[in-house]
Amino acid sequence: MLPKPHNPDLSDNHGAEPASDRRDAGPRLTRRSFIKGAGAAAAVAGLIGVKPGPAASAVENPPPAGAAERIGPGAETFTLRINGAPRTLTVEPRVTLLGALRDHLGLTGAKLVCDRGACGACTVHLDGAPVTACMILASDARGHEITTIEGLGTPARMAPIQRAFVAEDALQCGFCTPGMTMAIAAALAANPAPTADEIKRAVAGNICRCGAYPHVIRAALAAAKSARGEG
Ligand code: FES
Ligand code: FES
Repeated sequence: MLPKPHNPDLSDNHGAEPASDRRDAGPRLTRRSFIKGAGAAAAVAGLIGVKPGPAASAVENPPPAGAAERIGPGAETFTLRINGAPRTLTVEPRVTLLGALRDHLGLTGAKLVCDRGACGACTVHLDGAPVTACMILASDARGHEITTIEGLGTPARMAPIQRAFVAEDALQCGFCTPGMTMAIAAALAANPAPTADEIKRAVAGNICRCGAYPHVIRAALAAAKSARGEG
């Protein structure tokens, strides 16, 4: 059972969490904890002059009852539930959810920019909450409902926030747009009548290098208004 990810409720300050904080509210074995663990193992191995061996470490350090399942180091086959459908893939445990989506499942809407939870370009929904897919291991997304920008809408059937982005010209290069859109979609689901400040907090972790923020805020407010039947 993984901890609940970031709750985008705009009625409190949680909506102001930047993308870098979203990662820490994600699944238990994050990419960071995986790398830290691997680094510690490598450091210890360096001190005592041996290579870390998965078989040996598994025998010498069996996980305590109730501990996280030990996987890898080889590729594992598992199924993720993405955009309402099961998708089976075979990846090494080090592969992030973003890597799995983009490189193994052909879902390239979420963008790889900073690869360290700082820009929000890779934002997807995990059980309806926005998370940075570059900071979550794919294997840790098992058992969760993942939604990507491809699942939000299509060019023929756009979601209200996507239509609003087009109508308000809320993008220039478009590289931040999928992540920005997913962050706003989650925010509007949590708060159908947000203020401009609440929208700004919802996208505080999404960097737009083109500076399209004023249009993005307008699009979010327009989408909210339209969803309430006022626009
Ligand atoms: S936050 Fe994931 S690519 Fe920047
Ligand atoms: S539209 Fe270019 S980075 Fe946002």
